Amino acid sequence: PIPIWLDSDPGHDDAVAILLACSLPQVKLLGLSTVHGNATADFTFTNGVRLLEFYAADPGVKVWRGADKPLIRPTRADPEIHGANGLGGADELPDLADEGVKARLERSKGLKAIQGMASAISETYRSGEGQKVTLIATGPLTNVALFVSVYPELIEGVEQIVFMGGGVGIGNRSPVAEFNILCDPEAAQIVLDVPIPKVMIPLNVTHTALLTSSRHAQLLDPTSDWKEGLLPGATTPLRSVLSSALSFFVETYKSTFGFMDGPPLHDVLTVAYIAAPQLFRTTRYRVDVELGVSHSMGETVVDLYRYRQCDDSWGRSGLNCLVATDADVPKIFDIILRAVHLCDDR
Ligand code: BDR
Ligand code: CA
Repeated sequence: PIPIWLDSDPGHDDAVAILLACSLPQVKLLGLSTVHGNATADFTFTNGVRLLEFYAADPGVKVWRGADKPLIRPTRADPEIHGANGLGGADELPDLADEGVKARLERSKGLKAIQGMASAISETYRSGEGQKVTLIATGPLTNVALFVSVYPELIEGVEQIVFMGGGVGIGNRSPVAEFNILCDPEAAQIVLDVPIPKVMIPLNVTHTALLTSSRHAQLLDPTSDWKEGLLPGATTPLRSVLSSALSFFVETYKSTFGFMDGPPLHDVLTVAYIAAPQLFRTTRYRVDVELGVSHSMGETVVDLYRYRQCDDSWGRSGLNCLVATDADVPKIFDIILRAVHLCDDR
């Protein structure tokens, strides 16, 4: 399996990305770090712990807490979409009083995100004779930017950085800015500048990966994947919690953005990309972030027509990022169902 580190701000779609990361056989999750974003850093951290416990992830996978705020800008959160605690609707998820959650919290106490990334990357490199770790980011890029800045000597131990963020000419928190990038545009630019291969999964693609009502029904119904002892039509605790959390997400996407066919499962595409890159099309472009305080603040400026490749005067020529342009959503949804099935069986 491909060794991965997941940095996230759970969050509904992050929660499903975490499920894939700790369940799919194609990947091995070395650690989960959390960052400010969809909710405060307190909530994203405890949500990460609660989710790993609920998914019965390997007890060795710890949650490493990261940045409470962006590098420079004021902190944002997104209660309108994810609820005040980041996981609105997930009321049945084990809470902080749960013994398993308490034990996991204890094991993760005081751990710092960038230190976790550093030790996972250096240990993998050493013990795997040069094996590299893939960094996946599904929230604002603050932790990843701090990691590459504080540990430049470990850059060679990173296979690639796959992040959900940005858009090609579109946004979801301004006409042209996507939430993760808008939360910490400077961090995103630092990551785009680092000499590690990068893959950006933009809104243009994630907006095709909708949790439609028929996919939602499939997610809830385990009978297509028959489990012994389970009555047809009955569901499992995993599916039931996922479904009630995602129902909340369905409603907020309807009321905020008018997505009537279901919300995009943005973050899930990052882990799916690692597990099945053949399901995506990508093109290499120059990508930079608009850092000014302007109408386009936080925009990912994607150089579709290669203006900057031939203009060194910018000081930053070079095609720095693979940008996903298309994804085979039905097959990706099969991967999601597979992960749910595997997690159900744990
Ligand atoms: C991104 O912002 C958050 O709402 C989601 O978790 C996703 O990472 C989409 O813009
Ligand atoms: Ca996210």
